[in-house]
Amino acid sequence: MILAANFKSNHTRAKTAAYLEALEAFVVAQEIHDEIIIFPPATALMQKSLHVKVGAQNAFAVQNGAFTGEIALEQLEEFGIKTILLGHSERRHVLGESQELIAEKFSFYKEKGFRIVYCIGEPLEVREEGNEALLEYLEGQYEGIDFGYDNLIIAYEPVWAIGSGLTPTEDDIVLIHGAIKKVHNKPLLYGGSVKKDNARAILGLDNVDGILVGSGALDVNDFLAMIKDAKDINKGVE
Ligand code: PGA
Repeated sequence: MILAANFKSNHTRAKTAAYLEALEAFVVAQEIHDEIIIFPPATALMQKSLHVKVGAQNAFAVQNGAFTGEIALEQLEEFGIKTILLGHSERRHVLGESQELIAEKFSFYKEKGFRIVYCIGEPLEVREEGNEALLEYLEGQYEGIDFGYDNLIIAYEPVWAIGSGLTPTEDDIVLIHGAIKKVHNKPLLYGGSVKKDNARAILGLDNVDGILVGSGALDVNDFLAMIKDAKDINKGVE
């Protein structure tokens, strides 16, 4: 399975280094074969671990250049970063990234061979319209994205579930994931209010290949508990 932690704008470089050290030690000691990824803030990008991938939460679609406030490929390369999160709902809805811009980033980092975790998900008003409207909305987030790309992971994260303590029902996760997988047969993570208390149940669901966790993974011990859950379930997703 695949377990990813998105720190967002949390943790310093020092805290991230300590987190990574604890994670690496656990993965080695427990002989974890699942894929583990963390997305720290840009100031904490580092590549110190053999068994844990460190990815960027965002980067501009250029080698370098005049893009104030953004980092680009050159800054990722400095730390050996080869994984990136794209299309996250906070980038779409808080920072105002368009599908066009996200697709541009996708193409650029695909071209560079990055492992891409591509996020999709609907806001509450769309969820309330029912499954058909929901799936139609997701189609808009398929635009310009090459789902044939080998190094792609999809994360389904309903916007209304992120940071809210709410999650879809287990049946809904299975249903929506099944519908997404029918169109794009890629590893598919669920994200949105995953915590150590519900991770095991979610990881055990059909069509769920892993989880993308925000606040619930800020404490490394909680993330380790989820990794242990995944090991116990062991679906053997490559
Ligand atoms: P959350 O965030 O786990 O805090 O809901 C998930 C995400 O935004 O990736």
